[in-house]
Amino acid sequence: MAWTSFPVDRFQGAIRAPGDKSCSHRALMLAGAANGVSEISGLLEGEDVINTARAMQALGAEVEQTAPKRWRIKGVGEAGLRSPFAPLDFGNSGTGSRLLMGLMAGYDLTAELTGDKSLSSRPMARITDPLKLMGAQFTPEGRDKLPLTLTGRADLTPISYAPKQASAQVKSAILLAGLNADGLTEVTELHATRDHTERMLRSFGVDVSVRPGRGSQNLVSIRGGQSLQAVETSIPGDPSSAAFLIAGALISPSGGVVVEHIMSNETRDGFFQAAGRMGAGLGAEEIGDGAGERLVDLQAATSELKGCTIPETLVAAMIDEFPILAVIAAFAKGETRVRGAEELRVKESDRISAIVAMLRVNGVEVEEHDDGFTVMGCDGPPPGGGLVETRHDHRIAMSALVMGTASQKPVAVDDIAMIATSYPEFLDHMRTLGADIRET
Ligand code: S3P
Repeated sequence: MAWTSFPVDRFQGAIRAPGDKSCSHRALMLAGAANGVSEISGLLEGEDVINTARAMQALGAEVEQTAPKRWRIKGVGEAGLRSPFAPLDFGNSGTGSRLLMGLMAGYDLTAELTGDKSLSSRPMARITDPLKLMGAQFTPEGRDKLPLTLTGRADLTPISYAPKQASAQVKSAILLAGLNADGLTEVTELHATRDHTERMLRSFGVDVSVRPGRGSQNLVSIRGGQSLQAVETSIPGDPSSAAFLIAGALISPSGGVVVEHIMSNETRDGFFQAAGRMGAGLGAEEIGDGAGERLVDLQAATSELKGCTIPETLVAAMIDEFPILAVIAAFAKGETRVRGAEELRVKESDRISAIVAMLRVNGVEVEEHDDGFTVMGCDGPPPGGGLVETRHDHRIAMSALVMGTASQKPVAVDDIAMIATSYPEFLDHMRTLGADIRET
């Protein structure tokens, strides 16, 4: 059985963006460790985030859904996180597993972490190496993949660490461990990556310092021993999920979409900047603040797109948006080049290879590089007609279905189940805007 997206004449309407996945994970983790009762609204109830909620519960927090998208969490506070009775299953979620390794490392507990096939093939040494330097232990020793068993300790040693990758997950894991280390923990990033951990720690009353380093480096530090205080907060809309709907409007013969309540944060807006360079007609209306983030309603309409070279400085701020960028590049006139994006090889799938295959099977010419790809745009609707192998990757599935709305022939995907990890309302939202997506 496949799911097929048929070409449609119009893609129009207004949608409220689902809660941001990165912020939802972080809110649950910090609330679960905090003193007091936190109230979180607008939480993304995707499978990845629900797995984090279950993990926090297993670690001793009281986690309760009080209404749709509203959650009440009584944190463990001074009592600390405790060893869970069963393995923590993170499903598909790199963010849930990696950030929680960092947080758990600072408590006297032992926990086994597991995940699905995709997560169990993703590298973990980037997290376990710095955490080991701080005093956490991982077994089996020398293993780079889940399943892993972590033993944390309440007296971690602070470190000054420069990760090899520009990765918010690595930075965040170290900062969360640093919360319970004895002194100043510092991370030197190659480039600034998404800063939700820093912002959210501050909203829970923790001081985090951020300053520019040499060149494009970003220095983030945290002093251990600070306690988290419960908050009442609302999660802003997810720009990464919004990008699919915005792209649908840009490539449609008659596109006009407003996605409301999107977080506008420069560490996340690379796709919108790149689309702007390609000639996308985008308009943003500021609507206020939420959870320490600026919020906008973003409008997009049918646009004549032209290819461009994506500046490497934008890569971190659009790291999850390359599959959908590749789709708009297929409709553009001229070449779109992506380099310096080797991290795409270790996402939910090898995304460089999955993107190249997605485009080729739909008649689009594309060249694969070690660290990126070059799309030869079709200057209008690409042929389509392909069956895309999603490789258990939600963003490949959503990108292919968006492509089908405006290709010459329908585009099919082999599976849609994993879309629920990040955007459970995706099909509903796409259909509301006019997409014709059916099981075939
Ligand atoms: C995330 C960071 C990014 C991103 C992921 C979410 C986060 O991963 O791809 O979807 O919430 O910190 P890396 O930090 O590994 O680049």
